[in-house]
Amino acid sequence: MKSFASRIVLWQRQHGRHALPWQTDRDPYRVWLSEIMLQQTQVATVIPYFERFVSRFPDLAALAAAHEDEVLALWSGLGYYSRARNLHAAARRLVAGNGGCFPEAPEAIAELPGVGRSTAAAIAALAFGRRCAILDGNVKRVLARHGGIGGWPGDKKVEAALWSVAESRLPESGIEAYTQGMMDLGALVCTRSRPACDACPVSADCVAHIERRTGELPAPRPR
Ligand code: ADE
Repeated sequence: MKSFASRIVLWQRQHGRHALPWQTDRDPYRVWLSEIMLQQTQVATVIPYFERFVSRFPDLAALAAAHEDEVLALWSGLGYYSRARNLHAAARRLVAGNGGCFPEAPEAIAELPGVGRSTAAAIAALAFGRRCAILDGNVKRVLARHGGIGGWPGDKKVEAALWSVAESRLPESGIEAYTQGMMDLGALVCTRSRPACDACPVSADCVAHIERRTGELPAPRPR
């Protein structure tokens, strides 16, 4: 059997999402903006907001020069407005202190306001081809099921175990397709309820599928 990573990469190329507006190039500004918008909001909702935002603010310099009111007005309806304030503050910081360049290293990206470890890794992988592991909610579900990792993923020890699995499965090449593939698999196939295991490229060695435990993994928050 091909490796986990190779199967994800091949599946993404055939069945994953390719025509999203932030996938037209590797512009780190567009990738960053999309990842921030997608943190708490579904793809279909994000698309028109993303298009309006980049039309008005096509790059870091334009965003940094804006008044906060106008940034917030373009965010109106997306919710979680601290995301917009953080975005604006980060653009100003990069223009004032980093020559208007977006940082490439995941550690540097993670220092921007509003960007955590997984979002920084997604930007580094998708915009710069860096070999970094992501671990958002969808990816936690895929890895907990495939590896048969019990416990609530919000628990620090469980989360640490999931990060080490995520790090250990990265492909040697094709990090962009792999990263997008993990997100797409979690969103489209390995869904929280009624996952489409028939359509999954990694079901053959998925512990949850083999043991008929997809309904139990990942474990819910204990109460
Ligand atoms: N959710 C978070 N990042 C995403 C991406 N790049 N594509 C689709 N959904 C996402």
